[in-house]
Amino acid sequence: MCGIVGYIGKAQAAPILIKGLSKLEYRGYDSAGIAVFGDQVQVVKAKGRLAELDEKVKNMGGVKGCMGIGHTRWATHGAPSDKNAHPHTSMNGRISVVHNGIIENYIQLKSELEKQGYVFVSETDTEVIAQLFDSLYNGDLVDTLIRVIGKVRGSYALGIVCSEKPDEFVAVRKDSPLLVGISEDGNYIASDIPAVLEYTKDYYLLNDNEIVVMKKDGVTILDLDKNEIKKDIYHVDWDISAAEKGGYDYFMMKEIMEQPKALKATISPRLDNGQIVLDQLKYTDEDIKNINRIHIVACGSAWHAGIVGKYVIEDLARIPVEVDLASEFRYRNPILNKNDVCIIISQSGETADTLAALREAKRQGIRILSIVNVVGSSIARDSDDVLYTWAGPEIAVATTKGYSTQVALMYLIALKFGQVRGCVSAEEAAKLVAELESVPEKIEQLFALDGKMKELAEGHANAKDVFIIGRGIDYAVALECSLKLKEISYIHSEAYAAGELKHGTISLIEEGTLVVAIATQDTLYEKLVSNVKEVKARGANVLAIAKEGNTEIAEVADEVIYIPAIDDRFTASLDVIPMQLFAYYVAVARGCDVDKPRNLAKSVTVE
Ligand code: AGP
Ligand code: GLU
Repeated sequence: MCGIVGYIGKAQAAPILIKGLSKLEYRGYDSAGIAVFGDQVQVVKAKGRLAELDEKVKNMGGVKGCMGIGHTRWATHGAPSDKNAHPHTSMNGRISVVHNGIIENYIQLKSELEKQGYVFVSETDTEVIAQLFDSLYNGDLVDTLIRVIGKVRGSYALGIVCSEKPDEFVAVRKDSPLLVGISEDGNYIASDIPAVLEYTKDYYLLNDNEIVVMKKDGVTILDLDKNEIKKDIYHVDWDISAAEKGGYDYFMMKEIMEQPKALKATISPRLDNGQIVLDQLKYTDEDIKNINRIHIVACGSAWHAGIVGKYVIEDLARIPVEVDLASEFRYRNPILNKNDVCIIISQSGETADTLAALREAKRQGIRILSIVNVVGSSIARDSDDVLYTWAGPEIAVATTKGYSTQVALMYLIALKFGQVRGCVSAEEAAKLVAELESVPEKIEQLFALDGKMKELAEGHANAKDVFIIGRGIDYAVALECSLKLKEISYIHSEAYAAGELKHGTISLIEEGTLVVAIATQDTLYEKLVSNVKEVKARGANVLAIAKEGNTEIAEVADEVIYIPAIDDRFTASLDVIPMQLFAYYVAVARGCDVDKPRNLAKSVTVE
């Protein structure tokens, strides 16, 4: 959600800013802009895609200067428009600001500033930062920024340029992501690494309210008392090609295809001679035995991974598990007890609601274990223990390998906790570990379905509604399959626990309605078949997903997709694959922008 890039150095800033912003397009945006300091500060902004901004800059004959800030906006306050696009500038043009986040007390600040004579031109909350900074400006950027921070409430990543300071700009973050890239040739701020990866692999991570002074030949980081903070330099250990499409039409397809590799990266290092080793976890066996209850908290697909987690952890480790949406958990005054553990799941590690939920759990004093993909992200840093998914960068807004690797970690935790708590015998564990290890290869086999899923997707591309039903873990995965279809193809879809359909929703089934029936739980299979019959009797067109060897299902369903045989508990990892392909091809057939669906952002950094 929103992208910020800033640069100061030897090179021209505008091309670096625009290119950097293009690497952040995946985060979702509706307008873009830059402010570049040459002889003076020049601001250029445009509603729509970056190409529009680029065009404007070219029509002006380029924008000259070696320092600047850039922004892709995901509107929260005020419609997407040229006027509301960032950078926002103070009335006198002295201060230019890019901002990611929300200023919660902007109405109050705005009215105070209006009384001082400041005139506002946009509908955004961000504009108050530019005007407020200007009203408090005393010739020192750091001093002024500290005073601004003292007055605003909310979340922010800010880059601020002042027309009286040609050799430096300042930046700060609170609850919105921002990092600092460093190199010989110049220094950068960015919302995420891909924006600067072409120029440097070295970067600093920022904590809340650390102030960065950016100069051509160096970066200084200060606390709110202006003491210098010495930071470790992080080094990106993946190559720029990992953040490129590599010949695929869309990142989403590339990431679908990367799943076997990503799952190996998640699972293999955590297995040693058939034993599960979660050595990043600082839990003793005693700690694991004493867990009273687990609260899994997440948003979107990560929440879906958590629901798979509930099924397997309760089944294998016999620990009660509650799964909460972070946006609900953070405000519902949850009851957390001393021996409870909170598992936070997040691909980006920056989701605002999830981060706030983590802080609520922490405030209540319970131990936080997070499952995160982005190394060093806010959620990872705020947790007591972190298990990284090691899926590599995920660019497409719709998660695929992110979700799959989160599910794999749910399996590893369930197995480990189950064994330590004596609920899973060594023999059973060895069998299940072998099954889990077979998942990446079985996903490879599933890719053979690519052509078939494309054909099916093209046949259903005009569907109005799609229902996805399943029982047990099949229901948990149905939630994810349904979200994939909705978010990228804009077809209405609902996931239902198959037994629940007849309590209301079955009234929506009409002649020809597509119902995807996930039928991969051996123990629940007959029950599921009854539900398939119920929808068939009302005219549904049924596409079933079943395990290889199940010939019977073909008699009740219109089409069957087979997944390789596997223990019931691990089916989630396989069921989701054909449905990711299905959603992808439906979206392509409908001409949708697969990687950047409308209204969505990759990393939801506002609540
Ligand atoms: C999934 O395809 C979505 N884009 C979305 O639901 C996502 O899973 C959710 O926003 C959580 O993101 P996170 O894992 O980065 O916290
Ligand atoms: N709240 C600001 C706006 O609506 C910033 C949004 C963003 O993070 O892109 O302009």
